[in-house]
Amino acid sequence: QESQIGVTGLAVMGANLARNIARHGVPVAVHNRTAARTTEFMEHYGGEGDFTAGETVETFVAALERPRRIIVMVKAGAPVDGVIEELTPLLDEGDILIDAGNSHFADTKRRTQACAEHGLRFMGIGVSGGEEGALLGPSIMPGGAREAYAEVEAVLTSIAAQVDGTPCCTYVGPDGAGHYVKMVHNGIEYADIQLIAEAYDLLRHVAGLEVADIAGIFDDWNTGDLESFLIEITAKVLAQRDESTGGPLLDAIVDQAEQKGTGRWTSQDALELGVPLTAITEAVFARTLSSLREEREVASQRLAGPVPGAAKGSTDGLVDDIQKALYASKVVAYAQGFQQMTAASQAHGWDLDLGAMATIWRGGCIIRARFLNRIRDAYVEDPQLENLLLVEYFRDAVADAQDAWRRVVSRATEEGVAIPAFSSSLAYYDGYRRERGPANLIQGLRDFFGAHTYRRVDREGAFHTRWAQDGKEVRTDT
Ligand code: 6PG
Repeated sequence: QESQIGVTGLAVMGANLARNIARHGVPVAVHNRTAARTTEFMEHYGGEGDFTAGETVETFVAALERPRRIIVMVKAGAPVDGVIEELTPLLDEGDILIDAGNSHFADTKRRTQACAEHGLRFMGIGVSGGEEGALLGPSIMPGGAREAYAEVEAVLTSIAAQVDGTPCCTYVGPDGAGHYVKMVHNGIEYADIQLIAEAYDLLRHVAGLEVADIAGIFDDWNTGDLESFLIEITAKVLAQRDESTGGPLLDAIVDQAEQKGTGRWTSQDALELGVPLTAITEAVFARTLSSLREEREVASQRLAGPVPGAAKGSTDGLVDDIQKALYASKVVAYAQGFQQMTAASQAHGWDLDLGAMATIWRGGCIIRARFLNRIRDAYVEDPQLENLLLVEYFRDAVADAQDAWRRVVSRATEEGVAIPAFSSSLAYYDGYRRERGPANLIQGLRDFFGAHTYRRVDREGAFHTRWAQDGKEVRTDT
């Protein structure tokens, strides 16, 4: 019997996806560049379902029914091109190549084009949920031609996580759209994680709580509006004891955050699109600052300022304030991420359905959260929504949280605890709701030193003042 789908790349994500598909009764052909891994896979999991081992690419391709559907799960970057190059001569017109890794959307655009020249249909699909998600039900963000998606839809929706009977998988858009949405998902994941880390820092070093108590607070928060996978596992990470010291494992972990690039890509693209993506970008920078461990050690001895944890003011109501500040900052981070998808959708002509994106993020993925139901509702009500902050539900939630938010940001600032994601989100909120900001002065300065011109509030046109000469204003666009 021919296999309905193939998976090449049997590291843990690929292996788990293949197992997930087979568990749904679909015959799967598996392949890995190093054949030993294929053998190993068959030894461990061969009995779980209808697998065919492709020892070589040729036998792998030959095992597949047509049009062939091949999921590629290898490291993003050159390895993906390597696999495409190797497979292309063995495939036939109409075959579908599905890159399920964290590829950059621009690479996906390029590969879609290149594959089309060989008559192949290329899809870039975002898959979130880590190892466990891949096996038990990830969130899937498929991009590519709609007719190609139609041929893999049944498999993908069956293996995806389900929330209230709805699969966390829906068609996203052409070429790079799926990988783009996955990239923004990861950017939001960075912001969520940074906000959680800042909340922990505040609870520990401003509120002066013990790690075990903080674990309890996150558990508690996970029963309310903040309910989410990341809050849930934060409580578990905080509660973990170190086998050698008996203290919190957290205290034994080096405070340098690593990153594989998707958060950085999100920020880079926000800069290209001109979207003020402050929360995610601060999260990326916070990781880079954390990596300067040796410099920080020196600076901690030399630079003046309050030492976090030393000041002990009143902590009445502080835990509630931190919870509210976290929620408000989270709303800003999501508002910005969704604005970026709106801008990208326009720039690339993807016609993204943002309500559908919120829907498929409700389960399976790393940022899965109760909160996403609200976002889905907001976009269902108004698909053209400009900013989530303007929706009644979020507007009221932030209005209710903002006094607490301001107290937390000023307290942390006074006590020398850096909370870049909390404070930049508040700055964004205040900047966004300001009818008239100070950019008039920026324009004046630009016009002074470079005759870059400015517009006036009371008249149409572009103007320049001869600041250093006679001080007269001239209209420059007529
Ligand atoms: C997911 C995750 C996954 C991966 C991140 C980690 O959705 O399942 O986002 O893709 O764990 O890319 O990213 P960093 O290594 O950059 O933190």
